[in-house]
Amino acid sequence: MKQSKRYYIETFGCQMNERDSEIMGQLLKEEAYSATDVMEQADLIVVNTCSVREKAEQKAYSLLGRLKKLKEKNTGLIIAVAGCVAQQDGQRMLQRIPHVDLVIGPQKIYDLPSLLQGQKSCKTPEVRTGLSPLFAIPPFLPDVKNGSHFKRFVTIMQGCNNFCTYCVVPYTRGREISRNFDEIVNEVAHLAASGITEVTLLGQNVNSYGQDNAGTELAGLATFPDLLRAVAKVEGIQRLRFTTSHPKDLSETLMRCFAEIDTLCPHLHLPVQSGSNRLLKLMNRHYTKEAYLDKITRLRTIRPDVAITTDLIVGFPGETDEDFQATMALLEEVRYHNAFSFKYSDRPPARAIAFADKVTEEVKNDRLARLKERQEEITVERNREYVGRTLSVMVEGCGRTNGEQWSGRASTNHIVNFAGPSGLLPGQMISVTIAEGGPHSLRGVADVCNKGREQ
Ligand code: 5AD
Ligand code: SF4
Repeated sequence: MKQSKRYYIETFGCQMNERDSEIMGQLLKEEAYSATDVMEQADLIVVNTCSVREKAEQKAYSLLGRLKKLKEKNTGLIIAVAGCVAQQDGQRMLQRIPHVDLVIGPQKIYDLPSLLQGQKSCKTPEVRTGLSPLFAIPPFLPDVKNGSHFKRFVTIMQGCNNFCTYCVVPYTRGREISRNFDEIVNEVAHLAASGITEVTLLGQNVNSYGQDNAGTELAGLATFPDLLRAVAKVEGIQRLRFTTSHPKDLSETLMRCFAEIDTLCPHLHLPVQSGSNRLLKLMNRHYTKEAYLDKITRLRTIRPDVAITTDLIVGFPGETDEDFQATMALLEEVRYHNAFSFKYSDRPPARAIAFADKVTEEVKNDRLARLKERQEEITVERNREYVGRTLSVMVEGCGRTNGEQWSGRASTNHIVNFAGPSGLLPGQMISVTIAEGGPHSLRGVADVCNKGREQ
């Protein structure tokens, strides 16, 4: 019997890309391709790239460079590049990496099957990029047989209108386009019907969902809080999450959802980027540190157990020691449960590439190390606050040591490693009493085991 063609997908970057890779995998399965984990065995390699930071882009190019050898060995191999680097570099990608066959922008992933057909008849490389403001994410029901059986991502919008001056996303993913409300709810219902219990709604700035409908008959009818409420009504969904939020669009109504929707998990990722008002202005963020802190206070009043995480940039052009100190001070004020911190990198054509007073690599390294060190201490302090508390944990898999060590996630998104009974299944909920808080996770014992010991 003739073996089906095999594909391998390497994904860089954010959860949006992970979801796009899933979609491409599903499209390929419909074309009778099967997945392989071994790149060397693939007939088609898709590199789904991210260009949000220089490092991510370098990683993608470095992998693409290494693929030259595989292509020399297997001339029938098709190499496709998708994602933001593909969109950004287009034709230039073919000059830089001549062994690439297909360059596919984020709005064109649904064209993958037709592009592969094209490769059958003619071996010339093809670039399909382009961003249309009229693009509509196709109604495409996820494949529930493959992938996680208990948690999934659902894309609710693409692109971004904010033009933060350091960020390339509005150029690579285009303007905000919200997906049709009913299609999103249908997709969640389809997932729930197959037993999936946790859903994360995805977009660059989910808080502004529906705002691109201004001026149409849908205006004001479908806001993000409306969507959350509709999705929460889908039977079977036990945990609802969303990411990412822009502080300027975090409304009182959305904050109230954390108290009003039982299944909405008490975790908010709220990127602040800097604690200096001067830099926030230069970054075009449209909020001040004070306004940001007011929202944090309000949210904590509404939902006291909420865990808050953030993104931070050090070494933005013009960042002085004083600006950096303001960011360090913000860490103390908010005491984030976790923070992802990055060194600023130029991302053309984002506006900050032309800003004066670029910070040296040495200063950036020093600031990043200091920020990471302090945040790590705060994270441990925060994690220790959970000691003695009983959390409801969704089992994800076995721990590293043996069958009675498990790993899962609390509703706050903390990773929880715990001793539990054998035979637990991924997706199952279990009560765990926390005994330790470390830098990356919580550790505890499942209540059923504790009770067993007490008897
Ligand atoms: N340099 C460094 N970090 C950046 N980010 C976005 N653009 C840049 C850049 N040019 C970070 C921001 C954002 C996260 C996804 O990546 O912190 O929230
Ligand atoms: Fe980039 Fe700012 Fe949009 Fe986030 S909100 S994707 S940082 S432009």
